[in-house]
Amino acid sequence: MRTEPFVPPPYPFDRLDAVKEIAALHPLGMLNLSIGAPHDPPPAVAIQALATSGNEAGYPPCVGTPAYRDAAAAWLNSIAGTDITGADAIAIVGAKELVAGLPHWLRLRRPDLDTVLYPAVSYPSYELGAQLGGCRAVPVPLDDQWRMDLSAVSADDAKRALCLWNASPGNPTGAMDDLAELAAWGRAHDVPIFSDECYIEFTWDRPATSMLEHGSEGVVAVHSLSKRSNFAGARAGFIAGDREIVDYLGKVRQHAGLLVSAPVQNAAIAAWGDPAHVADQRERYRGRMTKMIARLADIGVDCAMPSGGFYLWFRDETDDGWALANRVATELGVVGTPGEFYGEDCHGWLRLAMVQDVDGR
Ligand SMILES: Cc1ncc(COP(=O)(O)O)c(C=O)c1O
Repeated sequence: MRTEPFVPPPYPFDRLDAVKEIAALHPLGMLNLSIGAPHDPPPAVAIQALATSGNEAGYPPCVGTPAYRDAAAAWLNSIAGTDITGADAIAIVGAKELVAGLPHWLRLRRPDLDTVLYPAVSYPSYELGAQLGGCRAVPVPLDDQWRMDLSAVSADDAKRALCLWNASPGNPTGAMDDLAELAAWGRAHDVPIFSDECYIEFTWDRPATSMLEHGSEGVVAVHSLSKRSNFAGARAGFIAGDREIVDYLGKVRQHAGLLVSAPVQNAAIAAWGDPAHVADQRERYRGRMTKMIARLADIGVDCAMPSGGFYLWFRDETDDGWALANRVATELGVVGTPGEFYGEDCHGWLRLAMVQDVDGR
């Protein structure tokens, strides 16, 4: 049993004040591309639907209304060629809530296990969620293309694992894991795989892919409208996959009162039913990334288009992420996040979230 009190670490983005001061001195002022929060508008159909659910008075179902679950499943089937139904999916209050709470819920289900496996360079909440659930957070090393090297997971860690996290496309790297291989590894080791697919429609060198294309046994896909529909402020998503695990999570979450509000559920149905705004958003991100890659080349920094996501991820010859952040702030007035925010193995790197236009820089 843990005896040390948990002390919340500083919020990483609060550490960027000095970089912001440098960027503010640029003749065009500061452009903050450090946080991946969308700046573009959500679809009009979703905003209209917010006011017309007619369900504000009562409590919405924690797992989502049948219409919400059906819309989520139909959307995933339409983009990834999966074959799920609304009964396979339950609502979540955005992906972060699930990521941060999951180890705690899974530990209630399997008190004999205590370990969360996650990609060594990744969204910080996988590690933090493990800590919040009183679990061991064990990073899985990545190969030279930022994909998890499952052969590096020790037999003991696999035996103790409550789950393994994957993110494809990944944040910050934009890398895509081999989802079939991950699903097979999870089944072989009896470790549930949670596949964070919140950037699923932002892929640049291949079609959208979901873990659920490889069956649902032992795997759960995690989806969110935050990035897909610029709807981060509304807080809506879903998980779908292994029936037993999803049902369990639906039940414990109901007791905890984790509800997507009824107006937001109504809006989410409209958002999932509207592919046109995603096509527009894809072109916005593609254009911004292309322009920024060219600007980085102008200042002597080599950066490739990612496989997926809307983050640019690069390093320079200094191999010092803070020095690179200062350089990009000085030369372009742009604030990014140093690699160390995402893991131990990427200190020399910088991430730019291409959530705003870069014209004129
Ligand atoms: C990989 C990944 N997962 C989950 C989230 C959280 O998204 P949400 O707004 O759905 O909580 C983010 C947000 O940046 C993310 O990058």
